Amino acid sequence: MYPMIKIEGVRHAYKTKSGPLPVLDGLELSVDEGGFVAVVGPSGCGKSTLTRLISGLMKPDEGMVMLHSERVTGPRSTVGMAFQNPVLLEWRTILDNILLPLEIVPTKLSKKEQQDRARYLLSIVGLEGFEEKRPSELSGGMRQRASLCRALIHQPEVLILDEPFGALDAFTREDLWQTMYKVKEKEPFTGVLITHDLREAIFLADQVVVLSGRPARTQYVLDVPDRGPADLEHLYTPEAAEMLAILRHQIEIAQGRAPAEGEAA
Ligand SMILES: Nc1ncnc2c1ncn2[C@@H]1O[C@H](COP(=O)(O)OP(=O)(O)O)[C@@H](O)[C@H]1O
Ligand SMILES: [Mg+2]
Repeated sequence: MYPMIKIEGVRHAYKTKSGPLPVLDGLELSVDEGGFVAVVGPSGCGKSTLTRLISGLMKPDEGMVMLHSERVTGPRSTVGMAFQNPVLLEWRTILDNILLPLEIVPTKLSKKEQQDRARYLLSIVGLEGFEEKRPSELSGGMRQRASLCRALIHQPEVLILDEPFGALDAFTREDLWQTMYKVKEKEPFTGVLITHDLREAIFLADQVVVLSGRPARTQYVLDVPDRGPADLEHLYTPEAAEMLAILRHQIEIAQGRAPAEGEAA
């Protein structure tokens, strides 16, 4: 079986006025079908660049990005994306915001089926009854839930979440984590989650990939054991404390604040 997402030997530099800016250098990533990988790394190391490569919005200078063992050469409708800023259109209702991707990506669903699907997704994330509201009538957490529904409306094989909960307060964020479990159960996808929050990473993902500082390479990969149903108690076990300590240390190495293994202190 081939992995759903496979990235090998990727290098990329942005062309800037002051010359090339190397952003990725030796990026490796492999995500099995149905897997959920969290990517963490210092600010500005190239995480959002990675999401653009997977979604086909950008091509790397070198190396391979494969989806379903096919090389990614352009934007894919089988990828859904959600960002820190939900960017919902204020003049549209929540329902119509969620249906927006289907106006761009071809769909076989009838208008009625599209609406039923949008309503179904809203019910999964706990936004039943908000279909006709405008984005400004919703809280930040609710807008992020709606943005998640929009990313899922066309049943993407791959869901990319780029710091989707980063702007939310801690309690709202934890609610959203639990919602993610529900979404994954009802709407299976292969996920890539970019996050700064190590607790979020080990709560949601089955693997955490730590990127080095820019230019980013894959520095460390941590497998998270299966932990059963969504329960915040998972974060307070000795195993969780150990995983968080390992990841914290790896981030310090990535930031250049701790020596890498084998390096003199
Ligand atoms: N289109 C671009 N042109 C030039 N430089 C860019 C562009 N996009 C991002 N960068 C730079 O590339 C680096 C990595 O960006 P990004 O992938 O957004 O990092 P991250 O998401 O990890 O914070 C940053 O230094 C950023 O300023
Ligand atoms: Mg980013």
